[in-house]
Amino acid sequence: MKKPRRNWAAEPWDDSEMLECTQIVPETPDTWTFTFRSPSGAWFDYEPGQFITLDLPVDPSRGEAGNVQRTYTMSSSPSRPLSISVTAKAHATSVATRWMMDHMKPGMRIRAYGPSGIFSFHRHPAKKYLLISAGSGITPMMSMTTWAWDSGEMPDIVFVHAARRPSDMIFRDRLQQLANRVPGLQLRLTVEEPEPFKAWPGFHGRLSQIMLGLMAPDYLEREVFCCGPEPFMQAVREMLISLGYDMEHYHQESFGAPIATEAEAPVIDDVILDDDAKAQIRFAASEVVATCHETDTVLSVAKRSGLNIPSGCTFGLCGTCKVRKLSGDVHMVHNGGISDEDIEEGWILACCSNPMGKVEIDA
Ligand code: FES
Repeated sequence: MKKPRRNWAAEPWDDSEMLECTQIVPETPDTWTFTFRSPSGAWFDYEPGQFITLDLPVDPSRGEAGNVQRTYTMSSSPSRPLSISVTAKAHATSVATRWMMDHMKPGMRIRAYGPSGIFSFHRHPAKKYLLISAGSGITPMMSMTTWAWDSGEMPDIVFVHAARRPSDMIFRDRLQQLANRVPGLQLRLTVEEPEPFKAWPGFHGRLSQIMLGLMAPDYLEREVFCCGPEPFMQAVREMLISLGYDMEHYHQESFGAPIATEAEAPVIDDVILDDDAKAQIRFAASEVVATCHETDTVLSVAKRSGLNIPSGCTFGLCGTCKVRKLSGDVHMVHNGGISDEDIEEGWILACCSNPMGKVEIDA
């Protein structure tokens, strides 16, 4: 096998360079892993659990206008920095992931933005972890577990994963191989429907309080990371709250719009934007000035002006649309996609920031 071209001395990959697809591997009937490298040989520096936004030419006949940007958590680990992988599941309505499955080929180059995100156990050091995932929410857990394995200091991890059927379970064999080799990783799998005529050694049914107690009797002492469809995470949150878990130690990742539980008080926001009030945004790097209304978002004005600010979730969660505000004021209501430090340094999320008067953005 050819010695990989490594550029260790250089800076790590940054998103000014396109990514080149090197490998496509089916994981389950509707889930594939796509691996990318940097053509220059630059290495990848990110935190296990972070995501990347891919710019996909779903309709090449429309040029840039035919691109869609989608955010995918990396299933690879930064402890293996020569490449990155994303593992994507195609739902019935997916456009971008379906395009990847039908059109992505090794050798193809695409633009990508990031890595970003704050869902990583690097940010919450603890002695014991409880990783809870469902469906493709397993990807950040796989990244963190691989990192823990590669670090040689396997912490105490209970890895809970829920799927509809055993054949839907992504990375099952890899996880079982890891768990067979280290006592610190305890795999707890549950399915709603075991496959007929196949023995299923795991749990059966939806994750419940009783099941959680059996899977991780010391769950109250563990730092919890949860990722999956929003209804699943809502059920986990409500279950932990009712069990008396200290939610300061609960972290979740999702690219779906958040649903508040009764226990989570809504953020009171007394700013009422005036639909008639005019605003102006100057995009300094592009030298574009756009007039708009206070009720517009910086992202929508940029798009209308033909500018490309990368975006993912569009509701202030993923952090992909982070841009620097050079002057003026915005009204920003985000969902955790930006840190207080970044806000203090002048960064905003374009998708959930409304211009108040004249604003200058570095884009
Ligand atoms: S697009 Fe996700 S935070 Fe703006």
